[in-house]
Amino acid sequence: MANASTSHELPRHIAIVMDGNGRWARRRLLPRIAGHRQGVDALRRCIRACAERGVQVLTVFAFSSENWSRPQDEVSGLMELLGKALTREVPQLQRAGIRLHFVGERQALSEGMRHALAQAEADTTGNAGMVLNVCFNYGGRWDIVQAAARLAERGAPITEATLAGAMALAHVPDPDLLIRTGGEQRISNFLLWQCAYSELYFTDCLWPDFDAAALDAALAAYAGRERRFGRTSEQLAQAGAAG
Ligand code: IPE
Ligand code: IPE
Ligand code: MG
Repeated sequence: MANASTSHELPRHIAIVMDGNGRWARRRLLPRIAGHRQGVDALRRCIRACAERGVQVLTVFAFSSENWSRPQDEVSGLMELLGKALTREVPQLQRAGIRLHFVGERQALSEGMRHALAQAEADTTGNAGMVLNVCFNYGGRWDIVQAAARLAERGAPITEATLAGAMALAHVPDPDLLIRTGGEQRISNFLLWQCAYSELYFTDCLWPDFDAAALDAALAAYAGRERRFGRTSEQLAQAGAAG
């Protein structure tokens, strides 16, 4: 459950729609996959910067349920990139104490990929540092449906609490801040349930260009927001004064 607060503090949980790789590449007359490769580098930097600042949970959108509609060579390029990134990055994440989770429908992925995801999760499960959720073949509607289906299968009552508990991000609090790079101002079927009260931050910065300074700009914008959760500013001021 979210607590009401004037958010001069750091967001506990940041979610990011990492958008703009294709345009980054096109501007350089490079193939789109070159933009995705740079996107992996940007993600590595962002993970480090978030961990250094004390963010507890980082959730990134890497491949949406809808991204299967892209040209076949881009889809296979993205699958290959995920496989390579796992091999290269997991040892570093391990050293940094990061706990990795993959979130999304895995049935559609190859058996080798499913095995690699499970292995990466198992390798980092004992870590006590920042939680990193990588949403891959994820859709917010898929998440709500799979949660409802799980409850129905168990014959469990459907309440906000039971549904929240069956969602794919039940292991972390809801995102405090949702960042989208690349200039679009839409959710694109990301965390529909979990972002009910997240602060939204849109930037024109293309994802491969997103660096620590861009992260700090988002954090500064967040710090200036007043999170009211339905209450009034006066109520928040009174609660603050009461400690
Ligand atoms: C985001 O960048 C990465 C994925 C969706 C996999 P895009 O590939 O959507 O980049 P643009 O929006 O075309 O620039
Ligand atoms: C959202 O980006 C998905 C990811 C960043 C993985 P898209 O580029 O697919 O979003 P739309 O289709 O432009 O809304
Ligand atoms: Mg895009």
